[in-house]
Amino acid sequence: MRFLSLILACAAVATRADFLYDTFPDYFQWGVATASYQIEGAWNVDGKGDSIWDTYTHAGGNVVKNETGDIACDSYNKYEDDVQLLQDLGVNFYRFSLSWARLLPTGRVDQPNQAGIDYYNSLIDALLAAGVEPMVTLYHWDLPQELDDQGGWENEDMVQIFNEYAVFAFELFGDRVKSWITFNEPYVFITMGYGQGAHAPGLQSPGEKVYTVAHVVLKAHAEAWHSYNELFRPTQDGVIGITLDSEWKEPYSDDPEDIEAAERAIQFCLGWFANPIFGSGGYPTVMKEKILEKSLEQGYEESRLPEFTEEEENRIHGTSDFFGLNHYTTSLVQNADRPSLVPSYLNDRDIITRVNSTWDRSEWIFVVPWGLRSLLNWISDSYGNPNVIITENGMSDSNATLEDAHRVNYFRLYTNNVLKAIKLDGCDVRSYTAWTLMDNFEWAFAYDVRFGLHHVDFEDPERPRTPKASAEFIRQLVADNGFPEPEAVIPEVLEPEIENGDPEIVAIPEPIRAKFRQKH
Ligand code: GAL
Repeated sequence: MRFLSLILACAAVATRADFLYDTFPDYFQWGVATASYQIEGAWNVDGKGDSIWDTYTHAGGNVVKNETGDIACDSYNKYEDDVQLLQDLGVNFYRFSLSWARLLPTGRVDQPNQAGIDYYNSLIDALLAAGVEPMVTLYHWDLPQELDDQGGWENEDMVQIFNEYAVFAFELFGDRVKSWITFNEPYVFITMGYGQGAHAPGLQSPGEKVYTVAHVVLKAHAEAWHSYNELFRPTQDGVIGITLDSEWKEPYSDDPEDIEAAERAIQFCLGWFANPIFGSGGYPTVMKEKILEKSLEQGYEESRLPEFTEEEENRIHGTSDFFGLNHYTTSLVQNADRPSLVPSYLNDRDIITRVNSTWDRSEWIFVVPWGLRSLLNWISDSYGNPNVIITENGMSDSNATLEDAHRVNYFRLYTNNVLKAIKLDGCDVRSYTAWTLMDNFEWAFAYDVRFGLHHVDFEDPERPRTPKASAEFIRQLVADNGFPEPEAVIPEVLEPEIENGDPEIVAIPEPIRAKFRQKH
């Protein structure tokens, strides 16, 4: 029966451009996301410690217009307003992150900050009272500065330090929080923060530290998963996993070398973190081979990519209850020999990245909705169809308009491709999270780039939030749980007018569905 409906659905939706009218499975969940540094503000009140993003923004010269997250959306003081917005959207869950330095100003569990604990307790309780499930990210990039002073993620001790922080959070909040994410997008915070220096802590070591830091982060993730699994799951009965990000990498041409290069590109981004956890264990073979080859050419005695011991590999493998996925855009990948003189994770890939000039775009996001469906299929094929939760997807702009038709279009087409991946391809996707609840501090772009469903006026001390058209779109999408076939309008048959003695039907309006059935 399922097979038959799959065939029928496939026949009805033949091309990438066709729109699928159908609803998501009943178990499907909808949410929106934020992150502590991007929204909370209150950077130095009530005992909060500094984070690396406080240091990085205050140093000047790192962020557009030298803006900071000192106040941001002021969610530390306005969280009740945020909960109201979530309730108005009707979402099932809210994904937010804990500010580690607000809870533990030194980063260590021996000196907790009661005001920080109170803040998150109030937020969690308010969410639950509003019928919104909390989904909590432990690390969305704002490392306590004191831990960075001790070597940050380069320091092996971080494996245990992170684990202790995670246990502290499970103990405090795990009675009410049933969904945990250890790390948000290790690829981005590591390559930006330790490779290109474009994010905190601003280090530039694209050929070495990126790999050694990732090694520590993967081990830290695994320890936190094991702690939850052994110590808390039996009584708290929640789930815990990791959120990885990836573009879809489409081959630039049919040339087998480009096809192979696109696969390599995705292994160097998503596979880097996914293969140790969801795949065969350890880093992808193609990464091991390429980085060893390049390292030797560059005069290193061994690969710049560290190796896991067998014990470590086993300890990391399988440590996620779901595949958390953030996705924004797609690029085209062409095979290319990259000069090996400069050690860099970018050169290690031996590719050139391109885009199609006909794609709609906004800042760095190219609108390629089918890319998400392709990526979901790639994950399903590569890792045995794991259950995927989409933890971020969204569209930017650089103006303050409330009529954000481009964002509505993006959400409509991207979520439709999630629906296709589920209904036509059999991918096991369980939830979708829109980035983001409201305009906020967009890292190096600060307030110049907006992603919000709600507009925030950053000139006004009250930081008023106003719904955009995209908020109404998401509200309707959640209420409908997808895209039900538009109601056929019963043609209005007007009383025949008698002209020259002949009855004539004067007007039969077109069913609305014709209007909706445009190809996209
Ligand atoms: C993600 C990140 C979010 C948000 C988003 C939009 O990489 O997790 O914090 O900034 O990108 O750029």
